[in-house]
Amino acid sequence: MSGSTWPASSPVRHGTEWWREGIVYQVYPRSYGDTDGNGVGDLPGIIEHLDHLGVDGLGIDGVWLSPIYPSPGLDVGYDVSDHSAVDPLLGTMDDFDRLVREAHARGLRVILDLVMNHTSDQHAWFKASRASREGPFADFYVWRDPAGRDADGRPLPPNNWLSFFGGSAWQYEPAREQFYLHTFLVEQPEVDWRNPAVEAAQLKMVRGWLDRGVDGFRLDVFNIFLKHPDLPSNPELADAPEGTKPWDRQIHKYDRDQPDFPALIAKFRAIVDEQPGRMSVGELFYGGPETSASLSNANHLVFDWELVRAPWSAAEYRGLLDRRQAIFGDDIWPTVVLSNHDQSRHATRLAASAGIADTDAVARAAATIAFTLRGTPFLYYGEEIGLRDVEVPFDEIIDPPARRVEKDFVWWNRDGCRSPMPWDGAPGHGFTTGRPWIRFGDDADTRNVAAQAPDPDSVLGAYKRLIALRHGRASLRRGLLRRLDLPGDDVLAYVRESDGELTLVVADFSERGTTVDLAGAGAGPWRAIGGSHRGPSAPDAGGSLSLRGLEVVVLAQD
Ligand code: NOJ
Repeated sequence: MSGSTWPASSPVRHGTEWWREGIVYQVYPRSYGDTDGNGVGDLPGIIEHLDHLGVDGLGIDGVWLSPIYPSPGLDVGYDVSDHSAVDPLLGTMDDFDRLVREAHARGLRVILDLVMNHTSDQHAWFKASRASREGPFADFYVWRDPAGRDADGRPLPPNNWLSFFGGSAWQYEPAREQFYLHTFLVEQPEVDWRNPAVEAAQLKMVRGWLDRGVDGFRLDVFNIFLKHPDLPSNPELADAPEGTKPWDRQIHKYDRDQPDFPALIAKFRAIVDEQPGRMSVGELFYGGPETSASLSNANHLVFDWELVRAPWSAAEYRGLLDRRQAIFGDDIWPTVVLSNHDQSRHATRLAASAGIADTDAVARAAATIAFTLRGTPFLYYGEEIGLRDVEVPFDEIIDPPARRVEKDFVWWNRDGCRSPMPWDGAPGHGFTTGRPWIRFGDDADTRNVAAQAPDPDSVLGAYKRLIALRHGRASLRRGLLRRLDLPGDDVLAYVRESDGELTLVVADFSERGTTVDLAGAGAGPWRAIGGSHRGPSAPDAGGSLSLRGLEVVVLAQD
């Protein structure tokens, strides 16, 4: 199959730089649509729902699929046993090719999730590697001799590195009398990117997917691909407060963010750049906006987690936008992320952070900000209907680290944000005819796509309006951002500007409502063109704007 799988008539927007001006939507394949009744979503189930995403639905531009490859499922797909195939649980390669064709026919790009830092221990490379110190795969993983033996003769790990999922990062393999490295589960051994044969094998796999017509990639934990070549122990924080988790007591100097990493990403990008319009985004594993900006470049995005961490507070958002501006400046293009498969859903998280009961009102307000910030918005399936975290009882937990929680290892159960998409109010919610792999939320009878679709005041109605607004205004898609200091503790305001087009955004983070004097916004008069509410509040002739509680208004210059 060649790389050009776009039908001539497809409604593609924004040219080869679509990933800057467009909107990406993350699908968690196991939770989107189940066509074979086994309770787990699959690729045909995603195809069935592409109209929800295309120009006649939400109108997003790219679909990022969380891993679709064969996997024992211990990290729910992020433990890959064959990166060049499709997990039979999710479908076949024919299903995947059809998905690409059907997505392209609707103007949607397809972005795959590449997990290139580690594999499953069931991957053929690792099975061969762990069996012997000889052979072509012997050095495909990070193997090291023991540092010595303890008093009982047990082998000691090579250094003090820790697994993010608890315990040492080293696992002893008697067959080789060596340890292998795993930053995540024991069953997720780390490949050795410093071995040229590994690099060649990974890049070959990447090219294979590009040749199938894939439009881009999300790179899992990409900033830890390279470790310091000598694997020294990490320094320990001298003054870590009581109760600090072991992982956070270390300064991760040698197990991530190595100085030669940008050169490796450049090699990856060179392959992606062989055809125009292919995007990539790196998942920053731990790190702030400085690291995100430093690893971004003209063709490569890097997730920034500040919006995921910030509580619902105008003061916090003002600080966040100022930092973003100082660090990314006007040239580096950031991302805008509120939720994903590793985080509490933002309707739940943000509302709880401010003690607000109306999660829908917060969802609409947060979305208005997300769609009007500078950067590429990444949506997470279900946020368009205001989906909330689902309480999953302990005996139903799937997320592996959540099952091994102990004093030193505190973990949030990620099943809560991975529950299936409720499409309608019928049993199985249009997701499955079987028993869903994770339970639905208690509100799925009423909080579902079919219930919200006809209601213009629903969260879904707001998302459709806001996405159309962003697509229709160049300043929102690609403009510079200047934060404004308009009066009011609960007020956030900023202007976007591109080629003389100005767009003003004014938000009230409180539930009370507030009146904002727009004099400080510069040249007016301003006209309300959209926002969190249908029928946005409009400024009066004197330039005074009375906002309802949790209202965000988008204004254009008249
Ligand atoms: C990052 C992924 O987002 C997360 O879901 C996964 O558990 C880790 N990588 C380890 O594979």
